[in-house]
Amino acid sequence: MPAVRIVGSDQLQERSAFKFQFMREGLRIEAFVTRFQGRVVAFENLCRHIPITIDYDDNRFYAPDDRHIVCQTHGALYEPLTGKCVRGPCEGASLHALRVEEREGAVWLLNVDRIQTQAKESAED
Ligand code: FES
Repeated sequence: MPAVRIVGSDQLQERSAFKFQFMREGLRIEAFVTRFQGRVVAFENLCRHIPITIDYDDNRFYAPDDRHIVCQTHGALYEPLTGKCVRGPCEGASLHALRVEEREGAVWLLNVDRIQTQAKESAED
């Protein structure tokens, strides 16, 4: 099973987010990985209300309460660990989760061959 390194564990502090892109069926998908309550989760960077990015390209994903991911456009609130929308126009829907794991001091995206980060392109290890 291919796995691609996204970011070092030490670069992903609690409630920080790191954006990356990957290809699926010829389409470039923007995504982010974050750490919440010590666990690492990743989602496509698309709101479930209208398919636009959750952040305003400023890498801010958390609501002021620091307990929810927030869509900056209309304020939908998502549970960080599940991606489920608990308030807002898409209540009940969930962000598209990606399979990630943390090992060897890094976070890995599973089932892809290549990703693009702001820093550099990463290939399968
Ligand atoms: S586009 Fe995200 S809540 Fe409307």
